[in-house]
Amino acid sequence: VKVNQLHRTGFHFQPPSHWINDPNAPMYYGGFYHLFYQYNPKGAVWGNIVWAHSVSKDLVNWEALEPAIYPTKPFDINGCWSGSATILPGNKPIILYTGLDTQNRQVQNYAIPANLSDPYLRKWIKPDNNPLVFPGHGVNASAFRDPTTAWWADGHWRIIVGSRRKHRGIAYLYRSKDFMKWTQAQHPLHSAANTGMWECPDFFPVSIRGKNGLETSVNGEHVKHVLKVSLDVTRYEYYTVGTYWPEIDRYIPENTSADGWSGMRYDYGNFYASKTFFDATTNRRILWGWANESDAVDHDIAKGWAGIQAIPRVLWLDRCGKQLLQWPIEELESLRTENVQWSNHELSMGSHAEITGITPAQADVEVTFSFPSLDKAEPFDPSWVDAQQLCSQKGSSVQGGVGPFGLLTLASENLEEYTPVFFRVFKDKFKHVVLMCSDAKSSSLKRGLYKPSFAGFVNVDLSDGKLSLRTLIDHSVVESFGAEGRTCITSRVYPTLAVLGNAHLYAFNNGTESVTVEKLNAWSMKKPRMNEEGNRF
Ligand code: FRU
Repeated sequence: VKVNQLHRTGFHFQPPSHWINDPNAPMYYGGFYHLFYQYNPKGAVWGNIVWAHSVSKDLVNWEALEPAIYPTKPFDINGCWSGSATILPGNKPIILYTGLDTQNRQVQNYAIPANLSDPYLRKWIKPDNNPLVFPGHGVNASAFRDPTTAWWADGHWRIIVGSRRKHRGIAYLYRSKDFMKWTQAQHPLHSAANTGMWECPDFFPVSIRGKNGLETSVNGEHVKHVLKVSLDVTRYEYYTVGTYWPEIDRYIPENTSADGWSGMRYDYGNFYASKTFFDATTNRRILWGWANESDAVDHDIAKGWAGIQAIPRVLWLDRCGKQLLQWPIEELESLRTENVQWSNHELSMGSHAEITGITPAQADVEVTFSFPSLDKAEPFDPSWVDAQQLCSQKGSSVQGGVGPFGLLTLASENLEEYTPVFFRVFKDKFKHVVLMCSDAKSSSLKRGLYKPSFAGFVNVDLSDGKLSLRTLIDHSVVESFGAEGRTCITSRVYPTLAVLGNAHLYAFNNGTESVTVEKLNAWSMKKPRMNEEGNRF
């Protein structure tokens, strides 16, 4: 295949060519991080899905191995769909995945390594006692998939499987003493009306104090739980923070976190089918998510590839206990090279200042903005509940009071193209409201692209008069972390002029209040080893 390199990413996870979707069964085993993912070995569109497999020592440099799981048996002959790994006692990994059987029913299967002393876990066996879980009575066999990592409580293993009943999204719960014989619990772990199919559920504990992650079976007083689902209908992911009661096997979200599509999101942009794992070597819970293309199918076929994995993120509970924080894994910083720093650079109303000395198409940018006062913040209209709609009305070029200010990424020299990532502060009755946008509207002169004005609100204390932003720019992806990881937005964009050496980067302010770049630290990013052909173990 001839692969068009123009928009290929430099440091994001992707194979040399073809289609990818969900990350599957991330784990640490035998001195390697393992990542499996949904992959079409035959083309740049979804289909012929197998579990591709790569390994890494640092989550940054990746080596491709042979596909680990692919259709061969009656219980998965029509598809090997998403799933998760559990490390059983004795350091024995086991994968649960969804198979599409001879009747196209979605069933849950297991696979085990053929040789535990091979740290690459190259060969996987699918024993003949599969499937482990059939869709039971009243369960929709065409909407029953994506088993989670199992957790142990009260003498049983448990998993959830995503599903729906009519329009109600459901996480069915199963229990097992021996991991082989599974029984459906009388009640689902959780469900919510009018949310549609729950794809790729994830359920895990988070510590109420500090950044350390917890092994998936941990529970107790110092712990809350997170339930995340990927909604097929909106193509966004939502999570709640709550309490898990193993004796009654119920998960109860806190009333501060709404269920369903008014709820909190890992990412307010293009980020889907994500999954966490616990990295016991560093005590982190790490999140992998898929960033799909937002160009047209024929563009993908022409360029010969589609889909990337977002940069893995460490995830932990904020001190307020109500939301998660996320930050790119620190290993990514090993790719930082040429560096530019600014301090106390004032941005008056309507100005933009170019950030030079690094490669703007492949960069890591950290910036802290400060503003002397919030007096000029525009009034907030309480009917503005939809951040994305608000961002599409009040884009980076619509003058404001405090903001819009931020970065113009992947910009062409005369700003025919640019993807702004910015904040805008509003004044509500009793508090300020911060909007964060990553707006693809002007990202490309090309037609036929999806160019959404992605946005989310940022729950942040402004009493110190500062807002920070970190943005990872990588040719066709702009991945941003607002206010120390409180609000994250991933955009896929396809500039025609602002490519490779012709891309520019600016800091800008379009609010009447002047804003200071208190500190800026930006780096060119090197290219890691990324699944190159002929570079296999
Ligand atoms: C999510 C998803 C999963 C399914 C897989 C198939 O993107 O639809 O529900 O298991 O992709 O590739």
